[in-house]
Amino acid sequence: MANQEDNLFKNVISHAKEYGFIFPSSEIYDGLSAVYDYGQNGAELKNNIKEYWWKFMTLLHDNIVGIDSAIFMHPTTWKASGHVDAFNDPMIDNKDSKKRYRADVLVEDAVAKLQDKIDKEVEKAAKRFENFDRSMFVSTNARVLEYQKKIDEANERLKAAMNNSDMAAMKQLIEDLEVTCPISGTRNWTEVRQFNLMFSTEMGSVAEDANKIYLRPETAQGIFVNFLNVQKTGRMKIPFGIAQIGKAFRNEIVARQFIFRMREFEQMEMQFFVKPGEEMKWYEYWKEKRMQWHKTLGLGDGNYRYHDHLNLAHYANAACDIQFNFPMGFKELEGIHSRTDFDLKSHEKFSGKKLQYFDTEDNQNYIPYVVETSVGLDRMFLSVLSSSYKEEKLEDGSERVVLRIPAPLAPNKVAILPLTKKDGLPEKAMEIMNELKFDLRCFYEEKDAIGKRYRRQDAIGTPYCITIDHQTLQDNTVTVRDRDTMKQERIAVCELRLKLIDACSINNLLRRI
Ligand code: GAP
Repeated sequence: MANQEDNLFKNVISHAKEYGFIFPSSEIYDGLSAVYDYGQNGAELKNNIKEYWWKFMTLLHDNIVGIDSAIFMHPTTWKASGHVDAFNDPMIDNKDSKKRYRADVLVEDAVAKLQDKIDKEVEKAAKRFENFDRSMFVSTNARVLEYQKKIDEANERLKAAMNNSDMAAMKQLIEDLEVTCPISGTRNWTEVRQFNLMFSTEMGSVAEDANKIYLRPETAQGIFVNFLNVQKTGRMKIPFGIAQIGKAFRNEIVARQFIFRMREFEQMEMQFFVKPGEEMKWYEYWKEKRMQWHKTLGLGDGNYRYHDHLNLAHYANAACDIQFNFPMGFKELEGIHSRTDFDLKSHEKFSGKKLQYFDTEDNQNYIPYVVETSVGLDRMFLSVLSSSYKEEKLEDGSERVVLRIPAPLAPNKVAILPLTKKDGLPEKAMEIMNELKFDLRCFYEEKDAIGKRYRRQDAIGTPYCITIDHQTLQDNTVTVRDRDTMKQERIAVCELRLKLIDACSINNLLRRI
């Protein structure tokens, strides 16, 4: 990460803590690695993101319903889904530093370093030659060609080692790339081992009877096992979807980058059940729809891009990510996967129960194909927080930190600020708050100078500040300050409610999709 982005990310993280968005989990005991708690403002922002997603799925699509399945599931679920045997990451330890790494990430980092070398050569040459032709240079310069050859070779070997679960080949690749441990600086590596990412625990009070069960690593399986329950009780006709928001757990080997990669996180997943043969049409449909949903938030269209998977999981016949431009660069925000009939077929086999749909139009039974959309709630949170965090220099020379969070997602919609603590202004302010609080989350504050109070609201992203002053008592008007423009306008109290609801409503945001 470049220094400037690195600093920005650090500032975002400390801001999130200082203003009650995210705290390290059990901080008084020095925290727990890659586990975080959401504070009073974070929980509100998170709930608003959930609402935006849930309503998009279940209000805007009359063929999608939502469920809430248990985190614990019968252990055979994870055998059927392939997670017991194949939900692994390759890990390697450095014997000197005793640090553990993901072997594939070490290779990817080494490849990124080679790419940096190419970029430096290009940069140097571009400074030396006038009318510099990049593609000509890259395709003819001996040193660049040598680096490129190494990159291509490493990528090929990584792909083969991952596909064949060939851990010896992975170790050889790390040795050939001369990868050193960032802490010890040595190449004293252990063998590469597969590490299953599922957390397990035991269910049952008596040790001998206890069953090993898992904390779900994805919410999707709770949808698959309920497919027929929902289809029958909801009289759903294919194509239809089942949506769910819930916790998932993965014992990530390298958990870093704040809430980007956590061990306990939340997913918002939707499985869309379709007729076999129609999955590619729906895959394209959901790719497009999900991108629209993201872009409608207004965080900047240029911050999103698709990344197609070339290396498909065994159950998929097409897959892509929607990537977001996080402070550490473009990374996966959401996955869209055409999962074929793999999961339902496998659950049918392992449970011995038929999981088929009777299509009355075709008069036939079949196992539906599935297109899945899966977005991490915490990554959504990070995308909103990091892109809305701005350090601004104002015209009068002062500075402010503002969270330009889209108004419908902001933790508080309105701050109610009586100018002084006397002359009946607090009473009038409370009267206004009592009128607004049913529709809009309000925050009341009467302490400190008004400028200081505005800055505090900017820092938590409150889109509107309402100031109640002496004129309010005479003509029943207030000033409304806009967080982004900092402009103030005088407005009649009776007009406040509708104006603010209009600007802050998630439903209005949904209308724009
Ligand atoms: N059901 C499909 C599935 O789970 P995935 O690509 O492994 O697919 C989907 O995960 C999404 O869940 C990712 O795009 C990401 O947003 C989020 N996610 C995955 N692992 C995560 C982690 N350790 N911490 C935070 N979010 C994570």
